[in-house]
Amino acid sequence: MAYLIGVDIGTSGTKTVIFDEAGKTIAQATIEYPMYQPENGWAEQHPTDWWDAVVGTLQKVITDSGIDTSDVRGIGLSGQMHGLVMLDRQDRVIRPAIIWCDQRTTAECDQITSLVGAERLIEITANPALTGFTASKILWVRNNEPQNYEKCVSILLPKDYIRLRLTGERATEASDASGMQLLDIGKRSWSDEVLTKLSIDKSLLAPVYESPEVTGAITQEIADLTGLKAGTPVVGGAGDNAAAAVGTGVVADGQSFTTIGSSGVVYAHTAEMHIDPKGRVHTFCCAVPGEWHVMGVTQGAGLSLKWFRDNFLESFSDTAKAMGVSPYYLMDQAASKIPIGSNRLLFLPYLMGERTPHLDPYARGVFYGLSGVHGKADLIRAIMEGVSYSLKDCLEVIKGMDIDVKTMRACGGGSGPFWRQMLADVYNCEVETTDSSQGPALGVALLAGAGTGVYGSVREACEAAIHTKSKNPPGPAASKDYQKFYDLFVRIYPQLKDTYKTLSTL
Ligand code: XUL
Repeated sequence: MAYLIGVDIGTSGTKTVIFDEAGKTIAQATIEYPMYQPENGWAEQHPTDWWDAVVGTLQKVITDSGIDTSDVRGIGLSGQMHGLVMLDRQDRVIRPAIIWCDQRTTAECDQITSLVGAERLIEITANPALTGFTASKILWVRNNEPQNYEKCVSILLPKDYIRLRLTGERATEASDASGMQLLDIGKRSWSDEVLTKLSIDKSLLAPVYESPEVTGAITQEIADLTGLKAGTPVVGGAGDNAAAAVGTGVVADGQSFTTIGSSGVVYAHTAEMHIDPKGRVHTFCCAVPGEWHVMGVTQGAGLSLKWFRDNFLESFSDTAKAMGVSPYYLMDQAASKIPIGSNRLLFLPYLMGERTPHLDPYARGVFYGLSGVHGKADLIRAIMEGVSYSLKDCLEVIKGMDIDVKTMRACGGGSGPFWRQMLADVYNCEVETTDSSQGPALGVALLAGAGTGVYGSVREACEAAIHTKSKNPPGPAASKDYQKFYDLFVRIYPQLKDTYKTLSTL
């Protein structure tokens, strides 16, 4: 029997899963870690926390599964995109990673736009300068911490830092590299023009592979630490969204999915490159070699619900512990008893600024319509609805680009039955699930299989391992009701836009 391993270095934790060739989960383990917010709008993590979680989860799945690790044909890495990991000459981490939802780099985005030119930047990187992307984070360190920038000889994305520690190889791949704003998205290689204009030395960056290509192998030291066999191939893998696409079988035109993890994403595959001239959605290389995708991002999706859980729902967490269920299960139950519209309460999920469709690092969260009648359950439901409306914003932009969205699948922690039906009703379109809920971890395991000959190609891997499980059609009455609240939702941000900027200066 051949096995494949997927490791997903997420924002709330790292999940490692062993799969068989048919995509069946053999063993899985997750270890969580914190996100630090030293200032309003900043977000950092310690790469060593990711590493400890990768080692811990690998050790656990290997022990729990009891497999002979010489049957592991390959390993794939997926990870939160855009994070800046800076290493010194001895490969030591210089400062905490500045991660995807950090919003400190408005001035650097202006600098990038003026150095490269707004139009040229979109022509090459397919996106306007964004606070979430890596290039502006690099410039921020150079502008604000020159002593750290001077020490830096290597810049890696989160999962590529893990690759370095597993294999000793410095490498990245096209899907994740797309989110650095230094890649020529059409050519799938680093842009000399952007690097020169930003005065970033190309030698700081790792070589770019396609997602299924083998980039290195497990070293003896890591084999001794984890129980893996030395020499096990590690493929390029993918940024978490491109990985989730493979893990949900979204690998051809017409196919799309929504994921609710810490961020929320609406993703559509495009064999040809499509760019939104207004830059409201991202165009990136996807994990199918030579093809692309577009995606809209809601910064605070699961992150909003987790924030509410962590700060206001201690009683839910205690009850959930006593019952042996997840607090989210109880939160779903509470929200399901509240009517559509949360008793006239709307939530704008902009806790960490927003990308689609507003591109606004200053935006912040809002409960609108809060009244004395509202309790915790109303607020939980309002958060879920607000995130769903924001995801509908993403879908509307994608549809407006003439991209074919024939099927919509759901994955991620927020793809349970309650939220999934809400998405189907809010989108007014059928939302499918597949027989595995492992998303990114399955996606990169399949990429490992495609790269090591277990499958003939990425699409063949998806055919072998991914099947539709359930379909949630929209309820016509519910869709109508949600539409009324969505119509109001889209009117709130434009009225607040200017006030957000003022707020940030107080
Ligand atoms: C995508 C993005 C997030 C992160 C974290 O552009 O920033 O989806 O990858 O999941």
